[in-house]
Amino acid sequence: MSKKIACIGVGNLGRAWAAIFARAGHEVALYDNAPGAVAAALPAIESTLNSMAEADLVEDVAAAMARIRPCETLTDAVAGVDHVQESVIEDVEVKRAIFRELDRAAPPDAIIASSVSSIPPSEFMANLEGGARCIVAHPVNPPHLIPVVEIMLGPSTSEETYDACCALLSGVGQVPVRLNKEIFGYVLNRLQFALINEALHLVDGGYVSAEDTDKIIKYGLGRRWAFMGPFETNHLNATGGIEEYYSKFQGAIGGTIKELFLEPHPLNPELISRLAEEMERTTPVADVPARQEWRDRQLMALTGHFGDMQPEKD
Ligand SMILES: NC(=O)c1ccc[n+]([C@@H]2O[C@H](COP(=O)([O-])OP(=O)(O)OC[C@H]3O[C@@H](n4cnc5c(N)ncnc54)[C@H](O)[C@@H]3O)[C@@H](O)[C@H]2O)c1
Repeated sequence: MSKKIACIGVGNLGRAWAAIFARAGHEVALYDNAPGAVAAALPAIESTLNSMAEADLVEDVAAAMARIRPCETLTDAVAGVDHVQESVIEDVEVKRAIFRELDRAAPPDAIIASSVSSIPPSEFMANLEGGARCIVAHPVNPPHLIPVVEIMLGPSTSEETYDACCALLSGVGQVPVRLNKEIFGYVLNRLQFALINEALHLVDGGYVSAEDTDKIIKYGLGRRWAFMGPFETNHLNATGGIEEYYSKFQGAIGGTIKELFLEPHPLNPELISRLAEEMERTTPVADVPARQEWRDRQLMALTGHFGDMQPEKD
């Protein structure tokens, strides 16, 4: 059934959410407080939908665009909506202010979800009258091509809000995953930055180049991780499953974990400019927009391969 959605903040993430909801048949209102931002978002959303159509991921771009309504005010955008997807900048004061405003303006039974990527919900969802309908729905960039959405409950989020938010997201082709306890950085970014911290130590220490580190992930870990997680990987690495794997390789696993560079690597300017020099040789900064398009085409091909991210049919 078609629902009414408001996308608040239409930068990178808000635009992608608009494409996701409109593609799935929902009515989408757009609002951003920067002058001209909504007008700039419309052609960007259309272009996203057009490239998805080329990969058979959208049936009717014109119909999807007709479901999108640009709004001049936040009050107009949230009038009569079932779900608000907040995607304003990652700043705790800005998040606090927008949640207070949304809680006052949105219908009492509307869900208010935040795309926030690191700040724990208790830091901006506390003491809201409608705290029960506020929730974190943290996507991965670009969310129209990467399905997982981390769901974290705020200090007073209700289970009904959790269920309804998951039903909406599953219905549009995303994969909601519940994080059971509040934690800074959430799970995906903690895993990602644990790996990146180790990579910074290894590159800075001269053990491997940045280019070859990318190759190790691209042609190694990433090949399996595109379709299964690390624990399933362990489980399939021994015919007796994960118990046999951990007992057989205990020495190698424990020994390597003990040797990891666990202290935070300083993000010093020398190292960052060395990385930038190396990246410039493989992907010059001038080619980044073209390379982003290439990345999105690869992701669309993967989505086609897996046959997922399809919205539910009525
Ligand atoms: N970009 C990513 O990779 C990524 C991934 C996952 C989650 N997120 C999260 O999504 C959110 C948005 O990120 P983004 O990359 O789209 O940022 P962005 O800077 O591209 O867009 C933010 C938009 O919010 C608007 N805005 C700021 N304050 C506002 C307000 N009070 N009312 C209405 N609009 C307002 C800005 O004008 C801007 O257009 C952040 O919380 C971010 O952490 C980003």
